Amino acid sequence: MTTVPVSQNAIGWQLHRARAQAAEPYDILKKASWYERPIPQRHRFIFYFGHLEAFDWNLICRDHLGLRSLHPSFDRLFAFGIDPPSDSAPGDAASDWPAIEEVELYRTRVRAAVDANMKAVPEQLMRVAIEHRLMHAETLAYMLHALPYDSKKPQADPPSPLPEERASPAVKIPAGTAHLGRARGSGFGWDNEFDEHEVRLPAYEIDRYKVTNGDYLELVEQGVPAPHFWVKGVHGWGLRTMFREISLPLDWPVWVTHEEADRYARWRGKRLPTEAEYHRAAYGDRDPDPGRVHADFRSWNPVSVYADTGRGPFETRQMVGNGWEWTSTIFAPFKGFVPFPFYPGYSADFFDGQHWVIKGGSPRTAGCLLRRSFRNWFRGEYPYVYAGFRCVAS
Ligand SMILES: [Fe+2]
Repeated sequence: MTTVPVSQNAIGWQLHRARAQAAEPYDILKKASWYERPIPQRHRFIFYFGHLEAFDWNLICRDHLGLRSLHPSFDRLFAFGIDPPSDSAPGDAASDWPAIEEVELYRTRVRAAVDANMKAVPEQLMRVAIEHRLMHAETLAYMLHALPYDSKKPQADPPSPLPEERASPAVKIPAGTAHLGRARGSGFGWDNEFDEHEVRLPAYEIDRYKVTNGDYLELVEQGVPAPHFWVKGVHGWGLRTMFREISLPLDWPVWVTHEEADRYARWRGKRLPTEAEYHRAAYGDRDPDPGRVHADFRSWNPVSVYADTGRGPFETRQMVGNGWEWTSTIFAPFKGFVPFPFYPGYSADFFDGQHWVIKGGSPRTAGCLLRRSFRNWFRGEYPYVYAGFRCVAS
C-alpha cells in the first residue's frame, strides 16, 4: 500500500473545498437563469460552470501531464474568461452554448482525471488551480448579485457582530517602511506577488474606518450620481443586497468604482492611499488572521465598519475583509516580475494602465487570498466589485 504524503492530502482537501465553494452560486441560481449574462462585460453563467474544469484540464492534464483530451471542443470553448472595456461587450447568444447536462458530464470526467493524477502534479500548479477557482467563486457572486431576486433562492446571513465604541476617525502612521511582495521560496504566490521589496514612506494620516454609505450620502446629496448598488425608493435610499432590498445601512462600507472613490477623496480634500501606504497601515509586516476578519464566504453581505472584525498594527479597522479597498496604484509588475510559463497572461494581460490595484478582501473572498502579498485589480469604472475605500492625507 502506498502512503499519500500529508501535503498531498491537504491539497486534495483544499481543492475539494474550493469546488464546493465555487459551486455555491450555482446551487442558489435557479436553472432558468443559467444562460443569463447579468454583467454585460462577462460571459454567461454556463461558461463559468464549464470554465473551472476546462482551466484545470488545460493546465494540469493537457499541458503538464500530456493526457489525451476527453472533450477537445469544450477544452477550447471554456478556456478563457473576458474583461473587455465597458463599451465592447461580447455578442454571443444563449443558444450558442451546450446543455447543462453535457457540461456536467464534462465536469465529472475532468474532476475524476484531476483527482486520479494529483500525486504527479507539482504543488504550485495545484495552488494555481485552487486559487483560480476561489477567485471565480467571488466573481460569480458579483454576477449573482446583478440578477433579479426571483432568479435566485434566498439565503440567510449570520447575525452581524455588534458595532464597538467608535475611536477617533484618523490614524497617524509614522514614517517607515512598507513591505510589499513576497520572497521567492516563501510559499505560493501568483506571478505579480514577486519580488519582495521595501518602500520607504514619509508619515501620513489614514482613515481609521472605511468610508460608509452614510459618508458617501453627503456627496450624493450634492448631486453626484449614487453608487451602483443603491436604489432610490419612495422612502429614501435603499441598498440592493444579494437577496433583498433594504433601507440604506448608513454604517456599512460604501462599495463604489475607483472613479467614485477618487472623487469622494478629493471632495474631502484627501486622496486614495497608494498600494504601499495601504500595505504599511494594513499589515505592518505580518499576515492578517483570516479567522477574525469578515471574509472567507462568511456572509453574503458586509457588516458595520464599526464591527470589531480585525485591527491593523496601527489600530486601523477592517483594512482586510468587509470589502476590498481601492488604491491609487495602477496595476503594474514589481521589479523582478516573471510571468508563469504555464499561465503567461494571468497578470501581464492587465498591465495596460487601465486597471487599479485593490487590496484586502470582501465577505466573498477566500481566506487564502487574504495574505498580504495578494494583489487584485479591476478597471476603474467597473461597478460590480465589492470594493470600497478609505482616504489618506499627507
Ligand atoms: Fe478564469
